[in-house]
Amino acid sequence: MGQRILVIGATGLLGGPVADRLCEAGFTVRVMSRDALRVRARFAEPFEVVAGDALNVGDVEKALADCEAVHVSIDHDQEDECVSQVLEAARTRELRRISYISGVTVCEENRWLPLVDRKLRSEEAIRASGIDYTIFRPGWFMEMLARFVHGDRVFVFGKPKRRWHFVALQDLARMVVESYRRPEAANKVFYVHGPEALTVLEAQRRYCRVLLPEIRTLRSTPYWMLRLIARLTRNRRMQNGIEMVSYLEKVGERGDPTEANAILGAPEITLERWLQAQSRRVGSRHLGEAR
Ligand SMILES: NC(=O)c1ccc[n+]([C@@H]2O[C@H](COP(=O)([O-])OP(=O)(O)OC[C@H]3O[C@@H](n4cnc5c(N)ncnc54)[C@H](OP(=O)(O)O)[C@@H]3O)[C@@H](O)[C@H]2O)c1
Repeated sequence: MGQRILVIGATGLLGGPVADRLCEAGFTVRVMSRDALRVRARFAEPFEVVAGDALNVGDVEKALADCEAVHVSIDHDQEDECVSQVLEAARTRELRRISYISGVTVCEENRWLPLVDRKLRSEEAIRASGIDYTIFRPGWFMEMLARFVHGDRVFVFGKPKRRWHFVALQDLARMVVESYRRPEAANKVFYVHGPEALTVLEAQRRYCRVLLPEIRTLRSTPYWMLRLIARLTRNRRMQNGIEMVSYLEKVGERGDPTEANAILGAPEITLERWLQAQSRRVGSRHLGEAR
């Protein structure tokens, strides 16, 4: 307790709740971002805020000063290079732990996907660094469901058949905090599976039932049409999202969460509970503004 932890990627979807939860748990949390204004707007005291780029070893060295640990939650097409700069900067420090967000489909068989290759390289470098590590492999997050909603329409990508253990960000954040409290979490790779297995379509139906009751039927849009829409609208984020969902549907969920659940406590937040909390927090009428 009282350890200082640097969080790289705290302005991101996954990194934000982890930084918040570490702070609530009594750790001193330093957050690093390439965008100083953005990170200062998001993180007030007691957070320590530093501007810096993980691709720049000098920036990471400065950010790591007096830190005992670093949590890496970066989305970047040179993610492995970012991790290697973090490890380089850590060489001269007495770093006691590195935690890293990988992914549930990360394995040799899926290495053909550049993202998986980058994550495997990052994991390999972390394991070889000699620093105690905890690697998390989460999959589908409940929070991602909002990204399929555009105006009064919910996009169903193709015909989803695979089942995924949807997890809430709060459960991941709790597990990361727990990993810093438990010595037995050192040098482990943890699969993060939520409590129930659902197809994306089943999850979307439940989402609509609670948060968008005006949408009664969900129609599937074929991938070729989605790709066409993304190309015509030059929507890069949509293009990336389509390719990611199509990849996930192709390869399916991996891993056994038994060890993670035994050491860190299993994720408990069901989609139903998460939806009820969203409904109370925002009120379905105002949800459009919050998305
Ligand atoms: N989203 C999911 O559903 C999901 C599921 C499983 C695994 N993951 C993995 O979780 C990680 C985080 O994903 P996310 O969805 O939270 O991403 P995100 O919302 O896009 O956030 C990405 C974060 O990376 C930081 N970043 C990127 N390049 C950086 C650099 N050069 N130096 C410093 N910071 C940099 C960004 O910080 P600034 O822009 O502020 O610098 C931002 O905070 C990724 O590795 C992703 O593959 C995500």
